[in-house]
This record gives sequence, C-alpha cells and structure tokens, in this order.
Amino acid sequence: MDASQMEPIPITRPLLGPEEEAAAVRVLRSGWLTQGREVAAFESEFGALVKAPYACAVSSCTAALHLALVGLGIGPGDEVVTVSHSFIAAANVIRSCGATPVFVDVDRTTQGMDADLVERSINPRAKALLVVHQIGMPCDLTRLLLIAKRHNLHVVEDAACALGSEFLIDGAWEWIGRPRGSVACFSFHPRKIISCGEGGMLTTQDSGLDRKFRRLRQHGMDVSDTVRHGAAQVVFETYLEPGFNYRMTDLQAAVGREQLKRLPFILERRRALAERYRTLLAELHGVQSPPEPAWARSNWQSYAVALPDGANQKEVMQRMLDLGIATRRGIMNAHREQPYRASSHALPVSEWLQDRTILLPLFPDMTSDEQDRVVAALGEAITCGAALSTA
Ligand SMILES: Cc1ncc(COP(=O)(O)O)c(C=O)c1O
Repeated sequence: MDASQMEPIPITRPLLGPEEEAAAVRVLRSGWLTQGREVAAFESEFGALVKAPYACAVSSCTAALHLALVGLGIGPGDEVVTVSHSFIAAANVIRSCGATPVFVDVDRTTQGMDADLVERSINPRAKALLVVHQIGMPCDLTRLLLIAKRHNLHVVEDAACALGSEFLIDGAWEWIGRPRGSVACFSFHPRKIISCGEGGMLTTQDSGLDRKFRRLRQHGMDVSDTVRHGAAQVVFETYLEPGFNYRMTDLQAAVGREQLKRLPFILERRRALAERYRTLLAELHGVQSPPEPAWARSNWQSYAVALPDGANQKEVMQRMLDLGIATRRGIMNAHREQPYRASSHALPVSEWLQDRTILLPLFPDMTSDEQDRVVAALGEAITCGAALSTA
C-alpha cells in the first residue's frame, strides 16, 4: 500500500467515548448549562487528584494564567520573569496586566527555565516567576522555588501540559499542581492530556487567592449563580472589583470529569509509547530522543526529537506530511514574534530547540503500526532531506 492509501496519523487524538457523550447529554437534559454543580464537582475531583486544597475551573489555561497574575496583584511597572520558549499565552497575559515579560533561556534537557540563568534577570521590579512545565516535562521547580524565595517572588506554574507529570521533592514523588508555588494553571485544550474542548484550572493552597479567582472569573460578583438560584430568600448580588467572564460551562466540566477517570490509562499509555519511541528511534542515526532527568517523570504530552545536524526541519516535516504523518516544529519562542521582538537578548537554547526539534504524534490509542510508520517516515524524511541539502 502506498502512503496515499494509508490513514493519516494526526499529531494527537483525544480519547473520548460513550461516557463523555452520556455526560454531555446528562447536562443538556438538566437544563443548567453554564458554571454550576458539574463545575464544582470537577474542581473537587481535580483538586483531590493533584492534592491541591483549592481548585478553580475557568474557560482556558490562558484565562487561568491571567487570573493568577491579576490575583497576585501584578500590574503596570512590574516585571514577570519567564521563558520565551513556550506558547505565547504566557507572554500575552503578562502584557495584558500592563507588566513586562523578562525572558530567560531554557535548559536543553527539560526545555524549562534555566535555574543557572534566572538570577541575573531579577531586578527590584520583578514580582513573580512564571515557570513552564514544557510539553509535560517538569522544570527544575526545586531550585526555582529556592531562588524565588530568596528574592521574595511569587511563583506561577504554567502546567498547561503537565497533568500527571511528577517530580521528586524532599525525597518523594509528587504530582505537578499541588502546588508548591503560589498557583499552578492547567489546560484542557484537545492537545493536552485530558480535554473538554477548552478549559483551564487554577490550583492553590491559598484560600484567599482561591476566593479572588472565583470572584474574578465571574465579573467580580460576590455570590455564585448556584447559591443565588438555590436561595430561599431573594439575593441581591454586588460587584466587588472589575472582573471577567472566564467561566467554564457544566457541559465542559461533565466531560472533564469523565476524562479524569481515564487519566491513569492515558498516562500509562503515553509513557509506554514514549518508551517504545525511544527504543525505535535509537536505530535512526543522529536523531536524539528527549532526555528525562532522574528527578522528573514526564507525562509525554509531546514527544520532541532533535534532528540530526544538516537535516532541514521544514523539509523533514513536509516529507512526513506527504507520507500522511502530522508533526509540529519545536516549541515556539515568543521573542521571535512581532509583539516581543524588541524585548529580548539572544536566547540560544530556546532558539535551537525551536529550530532543531520536531514533535512526533503521540496519543493514547496510537497503535504499534502507527508508531512504526512514524519512525519509518522520519528515517525516510531525514535521508531525503539530507540528500536534498547536499544535492
Ligand atoms: C505551555 C502552555 N501554556 C498555556 C497554553 C494556553 O492554554 P489554553 O489553550 O488552554 O489557553 C498552552 C497551549 O498550548 C501551552 O502549551
């Protein structure tokens, strides 16, 4: 069979089934579609899973990151020390607060903020570190927390991709999101570990912050819809501060609750597939599989391989697409995009990772045949790309 007759292999495929369908129908039939009981249940189940005392659901991880910064009082004149090597949402929300993102280069192993470089970027205007557990690999949180403490900075964890990822702290494995910093923010976009279409979650240990997130996601209102609708007495709400509409719907939350039940299977499958990729890719000369530090357990939200020297990234990706296989280039760098071009010095590791790595398909119901096809196509694309560049 030639490639044109084979089923295309997508970059990801959310695992959804009759349970999610039934959950959505249950909500539709209930007549209550927006933030209500399902959202409250999703929050408590999610919080219990990551061992966070408070979990607040919102409409996306971008909304979660924005609320985290607003909740922590980040505003005009402040600096937030972060990475450029991430989805642009983090830089955008810092700007939306009127603050300035200060970009630090990343560590090549974890693709997270380089703890050796961060201190030189901290000045008296810095109010927070916004660190990213990139593509599911925990950043060096232990060291970054110590640095933040030394400089009296809040720590916001962008854990969009990191549900189920673990790191070793004080001699024990711990899930990302407990959280160790001030707030951790998760995403439920279809490229993430579990999905309900769109959605986000903030976890914190701080009850005051959690109360603030709940107000801010609902226009600054002092009472929730469920309390108001369930009250035997008439309730007049008040608006305590300017807020947003960052509500998650009950439709999304009901699907998210079913997704949480699948999480152990999803994590097991992703880890098994990553291990199998590592074995298969060892046969491809010059291709480097992603390393995993001894103190980290990735959920392998994405599997980023470094291409051999001389391989043309775009040509390799195009050849794979011609063979029916979707890939993505290495994680973007915000400082190379128009809004942030002026704001940074060179970030060589970030740029290298964007230009020299590609993300391969990886999703829970991926078959061995599909994985074999990806590896074969990568081998062919590299040979073909190398031939083209030497021709
Ligand atoms: C690291 C990171 N942070 C934040 C986001 C934004 O998430 P959302 O799409 O839920 O707003 C993404 C999305 O790709 C991401 O990868």
